Amino acid sequence: MAPFDLLITGGTVVTHEGRFRADIGVTGEVIAAIGVPGSLGIAMEVFDASGLHILPGAIDVHVHYRDPGMAHKEDWDTGTAAAAMGGVTTVFEMPNTFPPTATPEALADKFRRASTARVDFGLYGLLAEDNIDQLEGLIAGGAAAFKCFMGNTTGNLPSPSTGAMLEGFEIIAKHGHRISLHAETASIMAWRQAKLMAAGKKAPLDHLAARPAIVAIEAVQRAASLAEWTGARVHVLHISSADELRPLREAQARGVDITGETCPCYLMLDTGDYARLGPVIKVNPPVREPHHKAELWAALNDGTIGLIATDHAPHTPEEKRNPDIWEAGAGFPGVETLMPLMLDAVAEGRLKLEQLVRISAYNPASAFGLLPHKGQIAIGSHADLAIIDLGAETVIDEAKLHSLRARVTPFHGKRVRGLPLHTLSRGQFVMKNRVLVESSRGRGRSVHTLQKMPTAKPRRVEQSLASLLGSQGSDGTTLAQQKA
Ligand code: DOR
Ligand code: ZN
Repeated sequence: MAPFDLLITGGTVVTHEGRFRADIGVTGEVIAAIGVPGSLGIAMEVFDASGLHILPGAIDVHVHYRDPGMAHKEDWDTGTAAAAMGGVTTVFEMPNTFPPTATPEALADKFRRASTARVDFGLYGLLAEDNIDQLEGLIAGGAAAFKCFMGNTTGNLPSPSTGAMLEGFEIIAKHGHRISLHAETASIMAWRQAKLMAAGKKAPLDHLAARPAIVAIEAVQRAASLAEWTGARVHVLHISSADELRPLREAQARGVDITGETCPCYLMLDTGDYARLGPVIKVNPPVREPHHKAELWAALNDGTIGLIATDHAPHTPEEKRNPDIWEAGAGFPGVETLMPLMLDAVAEGRLKLEQLVRISAYNPASAFGLLPHKGQIAIGSHADLAIIDLGAETVIDEAKLHSLRARVTPFHGKRVRGLPLHTLSRGQFVMKNRVLVESSRGRGRSVHTLQKMPTAKPRRVEQSLASLLGSQGSDGTTLAQQKA
């Protein structure tokens, strides 16, 4: 047998189902062998992982890398450097750039900008009121998933009407791409924010007052109904409240293909942190009252919330620290601190390491069509690995973030136990001994060619606009023309 390119010896492999001591042989970009320690023979390079844990690299399905249009906050180089440093080997990047990723042309432009990526990525296409006729083109152009802003946030993209959403869901359902939802209902928030602003309110907690959990309950319910009707596969982004778990669970119980994610800030921060953090804590949806946290942890452990993601949302320190809460930037960088924070939660006994692998790697890969290539440590899978020291104690320091222009995080100063020491992307180190591998720049590839989507189960396809208007005739004629 030819020698492996790389043999990782002495580590403990952790999957979503269990852990075991094993050596890993890597050939080219993939895992070629997994064997009991000492059994795998020779290799060009041997890497000693004794005492360390080897996890599938995390897949963060929710990052904002800002280019084009807001590269003064972040770009693909800095954003994916942060991912590599955080043990994150795949990211899905959001379409609220300028221009938004709403057309095949904008998508092609973003692919060019992503050519500096250091880890693999998927690009979100936008589902909006005015681009329903672009959705097929976005899919053909390589969109890995879709994003629908039911509520306003950075970029102030208008939220589509429920009518436009329904047609968009009908179109996307045929292809199986997942539609990720910013599930906050815009009209409720606009109404409340206007009244709060008119009353002169502009403190950090007023932002929470404009976005009570009812905005999320309403949006999750509505999106789930549309998903059920059309067979579209949907994903609820950044679940912030215990309240939206009920409509999520109900939809899951009815068989709707609906997944959910939460982010470290909703698990680890609450209203008690607003005074200390000021506008730095601002994020959409907002961090809420303390009681939500326990229910979100429980939902992560019982599987209701299947994914952990970051909503990595870089803004400059000046943009973040605006004392007028309506003007302050929403969100903060997260892709670099995700695994340290979650490993610390493992150390504290909040979830098991295997469950962290499930929510950070296996489930995201499953939900977004990346199995068997990513999300697991298995023969034939990409050698996307995060090699972890569970005992390492560090303090999160925003001045050291690789999101160079957005060095602000509400977790600054937090002491954490557990740290990725090395990250491999398709068999190559992109971070080694806590140092970014400079030559990793440009290695990242789009995952859209790997994706395997399950065929959708359309429920009401006979009532879809496409079937009523006949726009699907393969010869280009409409139903009306065929009947004439
Ligand atoms: O706080 C947020 N910031 N929430 C979002 O949904 C978007 C993000 C951004 O792009 O800044
Ligand atoms: Zn986001």
